[in-house]
Amino acid sequence: MKVERFSAPKGTRDVLPPESDRWAELVVGFAGQVGRAGYGLLVSPMFEDVGVFARMGEGTDVVRKEMYEFEDRGGRRMALRPEGTASAVRAWVQHRPPLPWKVWYVAPNFRYEAPQAGRYRQHHQLGVELLGVDDPDADVEVIVLLWEFLCSLGLQDLELVVNTMGTPEDRGRYAARLSRWLAERAESLDPEDRQKIDTHPLRVLDSKRPATVAATREAPALVDAVSAESRRRFERVLEGLTGAGVPHRVDPRLVRGLDYYTHTTFEIRSAALDAAQNTLGGGGRYDGLVEALGGPPTPGLGFGCGVERVLLACDREGVFPCPERRLDAFVVDVVDGSAAREITLRLRKAGFSVDRAWGGRSMKSQMRAADRSGARVAVIVGEDEASSGEVTLRDLRSDGGAVQKRIARSELESELGAWIGRSREVG
Ligand code: HAM
Repeated sequence: MKVERFSAPKGTRDVLPPESDRWAELVVGFAGQVGRAGYGLLVSPMFEDVGVFARMGEGTDVVRKEMYEFEDRGGRRMALRPEGTASAVRAWVQHRPPLPWKVWYVAPNFRYEAPQAGRYRQHHQLGVELLGVDDPDADVEVIVLLWEFLCSLGLQDLELVVNTMGTPEDRGRYAARLSRWLAERAESLDPEDRQKIDTHPLRVLDSKRPATVAATREAPALVDAVSAESRRRFERVLEGLTGAGVPHRVDPRLVRGLDYYTHTTFEIRSAALDAAQNTLGGGGRYDGLVEALGGPPTPGLGFGCGVERVLLACDREGVFPCPERRLDAFVVDVVDGSAAREITLRLRKAGFSVDRAWGGRSMKSQMRAADRSGARVAVIVGEDEASSGEVTLRDLRSDGGAVQKRIARSELESELGAWIGRSREVG
């Protein structure tokens, strides 16, 4: 019988060691940084009632075309999460923890997109959400968190762009004006975008299609149309960014792909990536979303940052490489494996990182495995050592020929501790 072979679904990827070690390091670094700023981990379901995500905007591609919707066996309409903000807000409305509520997450998201480098059907986001703070200085805090996280990886070709969407009233007034402006130039727009003139005129400014980009270069800017109060808020944010030493550019075309934004929106882009996929992370305020999901009026803001894109940018810039595997010891037993079994477990219990060879192979092949493992020290048990109750420690990192020492098995933990300590000082 022919056995069918499967691959990961289109637009998804397996992340294997050692690349996954880099993922782990990225997540640990992010957790540390946002933890120091008072954010706690939120773990929420990977699927929700489809209504949770509908609030992101019926006019957005994410909701209209890209959502993985399904009916579960109980007949409920569900969707795999396309992003993290709506789920976080749903969780807050459900549990009502005290405000301000500061959470971070690392989670897979699902969007039925045309896959290409940096654009997947399952991608992963690191993100934060902060609910219950109206102060524009919170916008600065959130933007600076993302900026400093990306800089901490060694990335340099970064650009922060910011914009304000104003209040829903500002936006409504502006949308009507923009819609009229676009209608007068409908012929010059890409036909795909022309359809949005009446329903979602702001989305037209978000278009990457060349005809539309060229035709809307002189379009009225939302930032010039917002109320004096919205304008003051935005200026406070810009002032905070300048004060924090974070370079930024105001881009009146920055609309972002989701409908829930109010006031500040921002993106951090990498010049090292192709324009269509160069946004490493983005976010902003969504002051109406809590209410739209059944909660009391509560301001909110946050960002999401794509793990795959960040690592792609790191590859392009040659920074944040895969961490080197650093085992303390590798056990080589050429007798019958009993010593390897005992010593490996004993050393791990004592807190060392230890691996071993399997299958009773020759000394040569086990030593090769020890070298490949990246361990600092080989713990070797041959016939002699087995009969005298000893082991030989060999330094695998010493350049000038092998440094080795035979010791009693009872001294293993203390000797190994001293060797590791010494080699850490050196290397
Ligand atoms: P977003 O801009 O849709 O915002 O996604 C955030 C980031 O996720 C993007 O900047 C990008 O790095 C990454 N990303 C999005 N789609 C894909 C994809 N198909 N393949 C690879 N990476 C992708 C949000 O999702 C909002 N929830 C952000 C936010 C949080 N706003 C406020 N709070």
